[in-house]
Amino acid sequence: MSGPTSREICLASRPSGIPTTANFKLVWTDSEPLKDGEVLVRNLFMSVDPYMRGRMNEGKSYVPPFQLGQPLDGGAVGDVIESRAPQFKPGDVVTSNFGWREYFVGTPEQLHSVSREIQPLSVYLGTLGMTGMTAWAGLNLVEVKAGDIVFVSGAAGAVGNVAGQLAKLRGCRVIGSAGSAEKVRFLREECGFDGAFNYKAGPVLEQLNREAPQGIDVYFDNVGGETLEAALSALRLHGRIVACGGISGYNDGKPRPGPSNLMNIVAKRLTMKGLIVSDWLDRRAEFEQEVGGYFKAGKLKHKETVVKGIEQAVGAFIGLFDGQNIGKMVVELA
Ligand SMILES: NC(=O)c1ccc[n+]([C@@H]2O[C@H](COP(=O)([O-])OP(=O)(O)OC[C@H]3O[C@@H](n4cnc5c(N)ncnc54)[C@H](OP(=O)(O)O)[C@@H]3O)[C@@H](O)[C@H]2O)c1
Repeated sequence: MSGPTSREICLASRPSGIPTTANFKLVWTDSEPLKDGEVLVRNLFMSVDPYMRGRMNEGKSYVPPFQLGQPLDGGAVGDVIESRAPQFKPGDVVTSNFGWREYFVGTPEQLHSVSREIQPLSVYLGTLGMTGMTAWAGLNLVEVKAGDIVFVSGAAGAVGNVAGQLAKLRGCRVIGSAGSAEKVRFLREECGFDGAFNYKAGPVLEQLNREAPQGIDVYFDNVGGETLEAALSALRLHGRIVACGGISGYNDGKPRPGPSNLMNIVAKRLTMKGLIVSDWLDRRAEFEQEVGGYFKAGKLKHKETVVKGIEQAVGAFIGLFDGQNIGKMVVELA
């Protein structure tokens, strides 16, 4: 007897510019019956993330590209339905990289157990998952410490809001930029940022100088482009940059020219470090203990934008590129 029918999203074609629904296809597949050592999981939530845009292109990067006609993959949290592996039993909650589908069959090494006591379980895709870990890793990468003035771009998004809140918990002064007045309010009133501005409301450097007249020590870069250029100007002597992402350029056909003021790196002896969160997986337990501890103690505001149903997943993904999310964008599947 075969397992449940799963709906999955496949790559239909590679986009040029902003992806459209035509680049994706929803298909139905029957799962194979379980073999010894296998586990059947029903996904409860799946993640959509900006880095997936890069995987829609052909060519080598730090993660392999999605394959035409094949299901996409990415972070997910789900319920074990059936298990023929001794490590898991029905009712266990697991995270995996088998997103973009409703059910899947995996092996124990492809699954990571998490506690059902923490709710909502989607938090394992955000604050206590890949994006929260990115925020935590970025602060460690450039050794953010009490007293630093930290500027975070993409600040109302999944990585950004956690990076800013963790920096506050370390005793920093934190400034954020985001793309709407509602997001600016969220940063100031709910996340405890000391300052925030709408990067669409005026020149970034002017607004950053207003919020941080004495300059900044750390720039957590999620967006690149004009904001990176502004941060290079605002950074103080020996300032540090976490190069985490550059979403402002992800849909460009041709890379745009870089910042015109890179000489700031020389003049102010700045350090810019690239971050890939998967390099930090051997420190996952440390992350879970520290950030999980803050979460359980109610010290971290958890914010997410939840879209329901796998048929809405493509829209949720495309929505990342025009800022439709506050906090982590997740898709509820069950
Ligand atoms: N290096 C790593 O290991 C790693 C891991 C995870 C994520 N990342 C990177 O971190 C960044 C944030 O990822 P996330 O998962 O937290 O996504 P997110 O911030 O939750 O969602 C994307 C946000 O980007 C903003 N945005 C879209 N187009 C923009 C533009 N042209 N200029 C400025 N902002 C724009 C939008 O907010 P607004 O309304 O504010 O425009 C949108 O809500 C991305 O660059 C991602 O690639 C890196």
